[in-house]
Amino acid sequence: MTGVTVRAPAKINLQLAVGPLRDDGYHDLVTVFQAISLYDDVTAVEAGGAGPDQVLVSGEGAGSVPAGPDNLALRAATALAQVAGLSRDPERHLEITIRKRIPVAAGLAGGSADAAAALVACNELWQAGLSAEQLAGIAARVGSDVAFALLGGTAVGQGRGERLSPALASGEYHWVLAVADGQLSTPEVYRTLDKLRAAGSVPDAPAGPGALDNALMAALRSGDPAAVGGALSNDLQAPALSLFPALRKTLNAGQELGAQGAIVAGSGPTCVFLAASADRAVDLAAALSGAGVCRAVARAAGPVPGVTVVPAGPA
Ligand code: C5P
Repeated sequence: MTGVTVRAPAKINLQLAVGPLRDDGYHDLVTVFQAISLYDDVTAVEAGGAGPDQVLVSGEGAGSVPAGPDNLALRAATALAQVAGLSRDPERHLEITIRKRIPVAAGLAGGSADAAAALVACNELWQAGLSAEQLAGIAARVGSDVAFALLGGTAVGQGRGERLSPALASGEYHWVLAVADGQLSTPEVYRTLDKLRAAGSVPDAPAGPGALDNALMAALRSGDPAAVGGALSNDLQAPALSLFPALRKTLNAGQELGAQGAIVAGSGPTCVFLAASADRAVDLAAALSGAGVCRAVARAAGPVPGVTVVPAGPA
């Protein structure tokens, strides 16, 4: 069989409310995800010859993606083969090729997107026949954001972020992304939040998992970018800024240039800005590039669907 290619979107968090540290090392979240039109392409193919499964990475930040069994896409494929009870041909191995456009360790869940793509690609490639629900179950074990990459759109996440329900959102949102010259480690950003809270430098964690922001949900239903922009919130922004102080300048620049909202993406260090329209996003992206406050600028619209199989071209 020829390979299967799947396109997987990046995500941003419009709300990210982080509860206290749990015994298992994770934090309970209430988050609002949106999938945006910045994609990695993942191809899975069976190659002849015995040997370990392989992952090949090209494109944006490829050098800092683990290529061995630690790669999230490969872990997802291995987990799928186990759950489906597949007996793999020992004379063949899996080759996963990832063409990256989503910056690595940038708060945009690129690794999770690749894992979700690998699940869908391998389910198809191996004709494993797992249901969307079964794939979501495997996704949740592979990483907190993987299940959302499967679903896409705009959704509320609870638990570690893996318990999802679709959210009502009208209209299209035009985002400008300021990609930082550096990376942040997600566990370190969460640890820093716990330290800042313990030191009283930021408000303490809510007793429970926190509450969904009704103002944000109403703004999303109305489709008004000014209201959505004003309601963006992220508890990981303070720790990201304390680890990467230059981001403050980036956020300020976007605000001064007329963004409707400015926020650190997930655990950072990417900063995202909401523009009033597609045209304003073009202007804002150009102005931000000129301001020299980040490594690269990108535009993306949301919401977009979750992972989708790319139809095979003519042979
Ligand atoms: O699930 P994932 O591997 O993406 O999470 C990476 C790290 O982020 C976890 O090991 C944990 O330190 C932190 N995390 C957390 N609470 C969450 C999600 C992630 O503390 N809800």
